[in-house]
Amino acid sequence: MARGQVAWLLLGVLVAAAQASLASTIPAKPVSISKSLNESQNIGKSLPDSAPVFADEAAGFQPEQIHLTYWGTPSKMAVTFASGNGQIVMGEPPAAPVATQEAQAQWGFKADKLSKNVTCVTSSYVQNQWAFLKSPSYVSPYLTSCLMTGLPSNTMIYYRVGWPEFDSWSKVYNFKTYSAKRNFPFKVGVMADLGLSTQTLGVVKTLSKIQPQVVLNIGDLPYADNYLPNGKEGTIKGFKYLLSFQPRWDFFGRMMEELATHVPVMTSTGNHEIEFQSDGTVFAAYNTRYPVPQNRAKVSPVPNRFTKEEPSPDNNMYYSWDVPGTAHFIALTSYIPNDTFTTNTSQYKWLEANLAKVDRKQTPWLIVYFHAPFVSSYEASFKQVECMRLTYEPLLYKYGADLVLNGHVHAYERFYNNYNYTLDKCGPVHITIGCGGKPGEPGSGVAALDTKFIEEGSFFCKDPTVLDIKPNLAQPLRCHTFQPERGGMCWNKQPEFSAYREPTFGAATLKLLNETHADWKFYSTATGKSVVADSVVINKLDQTGCKNRQ
Ligand SMILES: *[C@@H]1O[C@H](CO)[C@@H](O)[C@H](O)[C@H]1NC(C)=O
Ligand SMILES: *[C@@H]1O[C@H](CO)[C@@H](O)[C@H](O)[C@H]1NC(C)=O
Ligand SMILES: *[C@@H]1O[C@H](CO)[C@@H](O)[C@H](O)[C@H]1NC(C)=O
Ligand SMILES: *[C@@H]1O[C@H](CO)[C@@H](O)[C@H](O)[C@H]1NC(C)=O
Ligand SMILES: *[C@@H]1O[C@H](CO)[C@@H](O)[C@H](O)[C@H]1NC(C)=O
Ligand SMILES: *[C@@H]1O[C@H](CO)[C@@H](O)[C@H](O)[C@H]1NC(C)=O
Repeated sequence: MARGQVAWLLLGVLVAAAQASLASTIPAKPVSISKSLNESQNIGKSLPDSAPVFADEAAGFQPEQIHLTYWGTPSKMAVTFASGNGQIVMGEPPAAPVATQEAQAQWGFKADKLSKNVTCVTSSYVQNQWAFLKSPSYVSPYLTSCLMTGLPSNTMIYYRVGWPEFDSWSKVYNFKTYSAKRNFPFKVGVMADLGLSTQTLGVVKTLSKIQPQVVLNIGDLPYADNYLPNGKEGTIKGFKYLLSFQPRWDFFGRMMEELATHVPVMTSTGNHEIEFQSDGTVFAAYNTRYPVPQNRAKVSPVPNRFTKEEPSPDNNMYYSWDVPGTAHFIALTSYIPNDTFTTNTSQYKWLEANLAKVDRKQTPWLIVYFHAPFVSSYEASFKQVECMRLTYEPLLYKYGADLVLNGHVHAYERFYNNYNYTLDKCGPVHITIGCGGKPGEPGSGVAALDTKFIEEGSFFCKDPTVLDIKPNLAQPLRCHTFQPERGGMCWNKQPEFSAYREPTFGAATLKLLNETHADWKFYSTATGKSVVADSVVINKLDQTGCKNRQ
């Protein structure tokens, strides 16, 4: 390490320590840590297929990749698992297989007395890649979701899943249900952009140790589409988001099992979940593997695929859930194929109706999460979802959202309360935490972390229309905005509403203490240890007088 780097590292630690003890949501001088990691740390090495955490230890039909999803109310929890093996196939792939047996979840109040039975729904999916360069396709294992209902609140629940017919069962796991009345203090784990790298393991281990009551995974899960169908890392020009190595999804399910069998993990969609197929199907892996509490009249654990035939709102793309007496959570998507992201769209109308129904006396905290950030002062993906921001930000402001949590930019950045690129105590705190471990691409010059700040300039600063090549079906053309007082399209310094930014790997916890106070802690895990690099007390009493918060 060069002496300069040591100095940067020390400075980083000192500033981080000062920050950790002092931060509040009252705006102060923006803090920026630019070079706390050396280059080899920044790459975050991709784990090979042979990594021990990817090993399939299930025999035959035994359930694996087991994970919990909170189904919106303390009495319901979904559990999803895989059985059998995914297959790589050449030629036009067969139809997705249909299970002939019924799987079951069993639960109870003691590990050796699981007296309640739940029948489950099994499905599967095909990732058809034959149309793209005659690449091998993938047929998934059976993917089963079971909805446990009638769970008493505030209770330790033991469960296992399996196939009665084959007498093939998982181990017994447990989780604790929430209170039906009030849940302060309530601890939420937050992470995004994980991938499967040496750094990802540190991020997941940090949250596994902390055991929050729920974890948000804000999009870009395994990055299967950063691999070619033969398993090699890389993408082919013109085939980005089309080709993938689907076994990475299975690896991801195994890596997450330790955490996700005890703590529900609430996912949302990133651009690397799109995975376009030739018939227009998108999000097949995501939707089949990661059900969410849908906002449909008939609650069903069977996830829908987002296809032309079955558009929103009955799908996995956006949803909400309550932690009673505590918080209302809303997951949105920055990626709906061919959406205009205007007010005349299903997601927007759904959001408007959802927000109008929130009772802040019941759920004082209003937390919104989706992949691509509205506010960021890194060069990467700068103002990339500006069309969405212009439409959605006024609505989130109107209803007094407390926190907007994002990923996508591979770095960490916390903002003071802001609105429309201006400090505003009545606006939400925005935090970008897309630093969950996504590996760099060795040799390609693509580092794992986005280390460049917007004030360092970019090719699009002078003429942002160079970004408007063509709509990529996932996002509308960009809606360029300029803030002349900040230097134009690209800002010329860290804006005053950016509180703390650091390109490092990590995850965070949000501890909701009571109606007015919450503790946010960001753990940097890059050096192999888990260190609190940024923390803040969110105090809503500072927002007294805000009309949108009464
Ligand atoms: C960079 O970090 C890695 C991982 O901590 C360490 O092994 C390596 O020695 C460091 N390299 C330099 C040049 O400091
Ligand atoms: C639950 O299912 C098991 C088979 O897995 C069966 O033996 C048992 O009788 C069922 N219990 C109830 C209460 O239905
Ligand atoms: C989006 O539009 C393109 C081009 O018009 C079309 O080919 C594609 O099928 C559409 N996708 C969906 C999901 O509607
Ligand atoms: C809203 O969208 C629908 C189609 O989804 C269209 O028929 C209608 O004209 C649009 N309304 C406005 C005001 O643009
Ligand atoms: C946001 O700020 C711009 C000026 O930078 C202004 O033109 C626009 O009206 C503002 N939007 C809202 C919703 O207040
Ligand atoms: C909420 O928590 C904060 C921080 O612990 C504390 O200072 C405050 O008094 C609490 N408010 C209530 C109403 O208990």
